[in-house]
Amino acid sequence: MEIGIAKPLPFAMAPSTLQCRRNGAPGARSPWVRPRLPNDRCRRSLLQGGSPMEVTVRGLTLDYGGVTAVHRLHLDVAAGESIVLLGQSGCGKTSTMRCIAGLEEPSDGTITIGERTVFDARAGVAIPAHHRNVGMVFQSYAVWPHRTVVENVAFPLRMAKTPKAEARKAALEVLGLVGMAHLADRGASKLSGGQMQRVALARSMAMRPAVLLLDEPLSNLDARLRDDLRIELRRIQVEHQLTSIYVTHDQTEALALADRIAIMQGGRITQLSTPAELYSRPASASIASFLGVTNVFPVAAAEGDAVRLAESGVALRTAGHAATADAVACIRPEAVRVVEPGAAGPNVLAGRVRALSYQGFTTRLSISVDERLRLDSVVPSATVADLAIGSPTTVAIDPIDVRVLPPEVAEPEADAGPAERSAAA
Ligand SMILES: Nc1ncnc2c1ncn2[C@@H]1O[C@H](COP(=O)(O)OP(=O)(O)OP(=O)(O)O)[C@@H](O)[C@H]1O
Ligand SMILES: [Mg+2]
Repeated sequence: MEIGIAKPLPFAMAPSTLQCRRNGAPGARSPWVRPRLPNDRCRRSLLQGGSPMEVTVRGLTLDYGGVTAVHRLHLDVAAGESIVLLGQSGCGKTSTMRCIAGLEEPSDGTITIGERTVFDARAGVAIPAHHRNVGMVFQSYAVWPHRTVVENVAFPLRMAKTPKAEARKAALEVLGLVGMAHLADRGASKLSGGQMQRVALARSMAMRPAVLLLDEPLSNLDARLRDDLRIELRRIQVEHQLTSIYVTHDQTEALALADRIAIMQGGRITQLSTPAELYSRPASASIASFLGVTNVFPVAAAEGDAVRLAESGVALRTAGHAATADAVACIRPEAVRVVEPGAAGPNVLAGRVRALSYQGFTTRLSISVDERLRLDSVVPSATVADLAIGSPTTVAIDPIDVRVLPPEVAEPEADAGPAERSAAA
């Protein structure tokens, strides 16, 4: 297994301690020891160094010599909120994170963390990364293989001149939070991938950042470990009210970790919603398709409550969506139900099974209604045990499940924020 690079990250080192020193009297005890606070507040302050902070991004634009990686992006993250940036490869997720962390200099826009403007292109403000009070965890484990676990986590504190014993004590506490205290004195090279990633997470939290930025931290791990750590991450984030921005292109991960999900496409946020809202009401066909909606059909015309599909000419009843000229009908595979032949009701279609894939509790079917209309369906396996490739079958789709959407979310004309954009969509 390849082990991450050992260069200390500048932003993981100094800021919180600078803040603590500013807050504390000269010669004061370690900021980690606050005996007069009640236990719960003490626990929270361990990670927060005070209250969680909100992040506000306005009109953020980042050009890499000709490539616009981030395009007039707006984002509001509430204090203690977990926002997940979800989008396809190359849509600008990492670039956005790097701008917030202070590792890139955007060409336009403003970034505010708490009360403080850390970047303002027009006013010439650019607070360096190590003064922004953000912690960042990357996809690569980035632990120092020649140091022990506790040394890795204590390192940024030591760099900030925290006395050795205090740094160790603080590191052990954070290691406890990620379930790694028992391996504190093990060499970091003797850890599994998941354990290394926990160390990287603990190290980024050790400085009690106001904001935690996580860029696909679990993508190098195997599926089981990823599931376990995802639950742990969410627990830590909720329990300690960490303001966090998490990047992924895995929608399951996004749904599990987010208070709200920001869909990124082409360098901008095209939808910002709770996971449930996003799942049930994607703002465009391309977002629906990215979220696993495989039945995506251009619409030729609207006929009352129905839409006629362009390619097959099949008419599907909807729950009264207004179809625009370039509208697309989107149907989740779970909404395509296998029913008895001759069943009554709207959107009942007869076809044949052309492919069938058993997935455990569910089975995925591809059904040919005719030459030009194939429907994907996901059904409980127990209900289709008698089906095989070639079996005649009948499916039904509830009108409410036929969503008629624009192909893309229109680009806002001026500097409208995401709220205005989703209202316009
Ligand atoms: N240093 C760079 N120089 C030039 N172009 C870059 C640079 N870094 C990123 N880009 C380009 O900017 C765009 C956004 O890249 P970014 O790394 O932010 O994408 P991403 O959403 O994080 O993708 P992934 O999911 O693959 O990590 C891409 O088109 C990429 O090729
Ligand atoms: Mg990336």
